[in-house]
Amino acid sequence: MKILIINGPNLNLLGIREPSVYGNKGFDSYFDELKAQHSAVDLSYFQSNHEGELIDKLHEVGFSYDGIVLNAGAYTHTSLAIADAIAAINTPVIEVHISNVHARENFRHHSFLAKNCKGIIAGFGLDSYRLAVLNLLNS
Ligand code: DQA
Repeated sequence: MKILIINGPNLNLLGIREPSVYGNKGFDSYFDELKAQHSAVDLSYFQSNHEGELIDKLHEVGFSYDGIVLNAGAYTHTSLAIADAIAAINTPVIEVHISNVHARENFRHHSFLAKNCKGIIAGFGLDSYRLAVLNLLNS
């Protein structure tokens, strides 16, 4: 089972960035814990602040991996190009958000990506990623 977690812009600053919204933990240590909990799974991680790099990565793994967990950050609310990339690939994509985007500003309520995703998990802090992985493993 090959699963890739993709984080988009500003998520490299987890643990530092707005801790009241996104928590105090950096993604690297969270990812190490997640991997330890799922040692039988080929779990990898990619982060980029650049829309085109996120699209390139979706194309690269989207015909061979079993699942993608995608937190596209603010591109969720703006990017038709990432929505098209998700539609173009075969691998199921789960959209995740650390925060409950529906309890925040109106502009965060709309996702261009959601209609092309298997499902959406939002508002459970970093645990949102584990819940998405769990779904892919159970599918
Ligand atoms: C986010 C929510 C987005 O609205 C925001 O732009 C992010 C992070 C989240 O994980 O809660 O960068 O995707």
